[in-house]
Amino acid sequence: MYGGGYIFDEPNGKQLRDEQLHDEPEKLAAFEERIAKGEKIEPGDWMPTEYRRQLIRLIEQHAHSEIIGALPEGTWITRAPGFKRKLALIAKVQDEIGHGQLLYNAAETLGKSREAMINDLLSGKSKYSNVFNYPAETWADVTVIGFLIDAAAIVNQAANAKGSYGPYCRALDRICYEESFHLKQGHDAFIELATGTPAQREMLQDALNRWWQPIMHFFGPPDKNSQHSQKLMEWRVKMASNDDMRNQFLNAYVPKIWELGLTLPDAALKKNPETDRWDYTDPDWDEFFRVINGGGPCNEERLQVRKWAEEQGRWVRKALMNPAEKRALPVA
Ligand code: COA
Repeated sequence: MYGGGYIFDEPNGKQLRDEQLHDEPEKLAAFEERIAKGEKIEPGDWMPTEYRRQLIRLIEQHAHSEIIGALPEGTWITRAPGFKRKLALIAKVQDEIGHGQLLYNAAETLGKSREAMINDLLSGKSKYSNVFNYPAETWADVTVIGFLIDAAAIVNQAANAKGSYGPYCRALDRICYEESFHLKQGHDAFIELATGTPAQREMLQDALNRWWQPIMHFFGPPDKNSQHSQKLMEWRVKMASNDDMRNQFLNAYVPKIWELGLTLPDAALKKNPETDRWDYTDPDWDEFFRVINGGGPCNEERLQVRKWAEEQGRWVRKALMNPAEKRALPVA
C-alpha cells in the first residue's frame, strides 16, 4: 500500500498518475544522487513516478513468469522418472510459486494491488517470460528448463539483486539461493540424459534444438532495440544490459553443453578472441514479439489454466479474507 491506497489501481490510478507526472526537479536530483551513491530506495521514500511505474511493470512481469513458469514443469510431476526426481520436481514447482508470492509482495509496496496484477495477467494486458509459452514435450524438455532456463534466470537475478529498489533486491537475493539449487538438480538430470542411452541423448539433443532460440530470446531484444534499458540502467534497476546478460550466459553455459558432446543449432556460435564476447546468429525477433504478445504455441493454454485456478480458488480466498462467512460456504 502507498499513501493509504493502491495508487496504481484504476480508477484512482489515472488521476494520481496525472498529478504526479511532473516530478519536482530538486526531488528528482536528490533521488538520482542517492542512486548514484548506491543507496537502496525503500517503499516510503520519494521516487519519480516513472521509476515507480517501471518497477511495477518489471516486477509484476517477473512475478507472473514465476507463476506461469510452474505450469510446464508442473505437468511433469507425475511423469518424472523415479521417486527422487518426482520429489525434487515437486519441491522446485513449490519454490517457483513462492517466488511469485515474494515478487507480488515487492510490487505491491509500489502501489498496485495483487488483485489488479492478477487481473492484468488474466486479461492478457501484462506480459510474462517468453520461454513459458512453449510446450514441455518430453522429460528432456524439463531438464533443459531446470538447467538452462534456471541458469539464465540466475544470470539476470544475481545482477539485479544489487540494484536500487530494496524490496525487489531482497526478494531476488532469496530467490537466487533457491534457484541455485534448482540449477544443480537441472544440471544433474541433464548430465544423466547426456551420458545415458543413445535414445536419451537423442531426446536431449532434440530438446536443446527446440529450446535454444527461446533461451536466446529470454534476455530480451538486442540493446539497440531495447525500449527500457537505458533509463532502467541509469536508475540501477537493471544492472546489466540485455546483450551483456546474454553474453554472460553464453560464456558460462555453452562450454558446459559442448563438453558433454552435445551441439547447439547455431553454426555461428563461437567465442570471438578479439572482442572476448560470443558471436551468434541473431535469433528470429519477429517470433519473439509474436510470442510475448500472445501468439506463442501455449499462450492461450497457459492463461486458460490460470483462469480456471482463479475460479476454483475463489471460495478459498473468500473464506480466508472473511472468516466469519466461512460457515455459509459449501464444504468442498
Ligand atoms: N519475455 C517476455 N517479454 C519480454 C522479454 C521476455 N524474455 N524480454 C523483453 N520483454 C518485453 C519487455 O517486457 C518490454 O515489453 P513492455 O514494454 O510491454 O513491458 C519489451 O519486451 C521491450 O524489452 P526491453 O525494453 O528490453 O525490456 P526490459 O528493459 O524490461 O528488459 C528483461 C527485459 C526480461 C531483461 C527485464 O524485464 C527483466 O530483467 N525482468 C525481470 C526478470 C524476469 O522477469 N525474469 C523472467 C522469469 S525468471
